[in-house]
Amino acid sequence: MATSDKAPGPVGATIPRTERRWALVTGATGGLGAAFARWLVAHDMNLVITGRDTMRLASLTTELESSGAQVISLPVDLADREARAGLVTDLTAKQVHVDTLVNNAGFGIIGDVGDTDPGRLRGMLEVNVVALTDLTRSFLPAMLDAGQGSIINVASTASFQPIPGMAAYAASKAYVRSFSTALSDETRGTGVRVIAINPGPTESGFFSVAGDDTTLTRRRRPEQVVETTFAALAKGHPSIVDGPSNAVMAMANRFVPTSLSARIAARMLGRR
Ligand SMILES: NC(=O)c1ccc[n+]([C@@H]2O[C@H](COP(=O)([O-])OP(=O)(O)OC[C@H]3O[C@@H](n4cnc5c(N)ncnc54)[C@H](OP(=O)(O)O)[C@@H]3O)[C@@H](O)[C@H]2O)c1
Repeated sequence: MATSDKAPGPVGATIPRTERRWALVTGATGGLGAAFARWLVAHDMNLVITGRDTMRLASLTTELESSGAQVISLPVDLADREARAGLVTDLTAKQVHVDTLVNNAGFGIIGDVGDTDPGRLRGMLEVNVVALTDLTRSFLPAMLDAGQGSIINVASTASFQPIPGMAAYAASKAYVRSFSTALSDETRGTGVRVIAINPGPTESGFFSVAGDDTTLTRRRRPEQVVETTFAALAKGHPSIVDGPSNAVMAMANRFVPTSLSARIAARMLGRR
């Protein structure tokens, strides 16, 4: 992070913008990504922000710059392998060393697999799984060389059980949590920290993009998820669930047969 140690700097601290470390937030045009970006700027980081929505990128850039940060805005479709390779090349050319990587971009699809457009399904796996892995692999070696860095991967409480009606999404987030937990162990003692944050339902564009904004309407705020993330990162946790009731539900899955927890999850989603 931006201070001499790994802990985030105090809110309002004033490290000159040319001396600040850089964070990369994917999906910064959405609810959680914008909240991560605001938190990082408030804690003295410069920001690289990505997403496809150029209007939202532009307004977030203006907002973050007015808080004193340097901001690089890179419109990228993360489902496109060449485009995301271009993102890495761009940052290398600009000599931007990414100290904190927030792999936040992602989306869900509500609907049975047999009814889902195959291209959309493939695109979801490309963004949620492959892009997250690619970006981690791209930026990790320089973090290891520097003996410092943080990788925050946004998983979900959907990672704790199969979800009929969101089958591929839940499986993609199980990948994110498993991958991040293993990577956290691989990087132990290197100065690089890795965490999977598992939000439950949270206010954002997620449910309307997924196809049903009327489901799971008891939602937390993105700022709460971000606070949970950085508190857990500072403690070195490899994975954390946001919110006490989400944590209880995730824990309860350990004591219930998987087929039963899958049926309960489908019922809660309103799909069965
Ligand atoms: N909200 C929840 O209830 C919830 C719960 C658990 C986990 N999550 C996870 O939280 C993360 C953030 O989602 P959110 O809740 O903030 O939803 P959101 O408001 O819909 O934001 C999703 C973000 O992902 C980006 N994105 C999607 N497809 C992309 C692509 N092909 N290329 C580049 N960027 C892409 C979007 O950017 P553009 O549209 O500009 O491309 C947007 O910035 C996701 O990984 C999601 O799975 C959300």
